[in-house]
Amino acid sequence: MLFRNATIEDLNAIWEIEKSVFSSPWNRNQLAFELAEYPTASHWVYVKNKSMVGYIMSHVVFPEVQIINIAVSLSYQCRGFGKRLLSCFFSEFDEEVYFYLEVRESNLPALILYTHFGFESIDIRKKYYYDGENAIVMAKAGNSIPQNITNQLFSIGSEHGMV
Ligand SMILES: CC(C)(COP(=O)(O)OP(=O)(O)OC[C@H]1O[C@@H](n2cnc3c(N)ncnc32)[C@H](O)[C@@H]1OP(=O)(O)O)[C@@H](O)C(=O)NCCC(=O)NCCS
Repeated sequence: MLFRNATIEDLNAIWEIEKSVFSSPWNRNQLAFELAEYPTASHWVYVKNKSMVGYIMSHVVFPEVQIINIAVSLSYQCRGFGKRLLSCFFSEFDEEVYFYLEVRESNLPALILYTHFGFESIDIRKKYYYDGENAIVMAKAGNSIPQNITNQLFSIGSEHGMV
């Protein structure tokens, strides 16, 4: 098992998973740009016996870490790899940061996974996706996050009755 930084060499393997697990996958050029050029990118892959298990892509603008993409290959899903991928990812950061992401309202596996790690719903973005589905915005705060940021993040959720 190997958790390591993603590189442009991983593009084909990531693209194969991306196409197979998402109804509206990123296109290959977007993935290539993320892997090769995006300035605040922090992208990671999880590899087993030279086979790509999954990946997680994020943008880091301290103290914010936005998780922009995560996927586990179909043949590895429901076997705990999503949890391992996220555990490895979180261990790369200290507790000064906070994490946030958007997820489709209907994406139960992802919602279960994020909730398991302490993510809370803080907002809803109406009709966020191309097909009109809403996005739930979720955030997970580190222990040392300044109180004003914590209040700001989690008061949004209270307004929407989400937390
Ligand atoms: C979301 C995803 C990364 C989860 O990866 P995974 O390896 O299958 O997840 P795990 O096996 O670690 O399971 C994590 C939790 O989700 C639950 N879960 C996973 N798949 C599930 C499913 N299809 N239905 C219900 N629960 C599911 C597991 O039971 C586990 O819950 P538990 O902690 O109560 O046991 C994976 O389903 C995936 O790649 N989906 C397609 C891409 C995607 O939607 N990404 C998220 C975008 S926001």
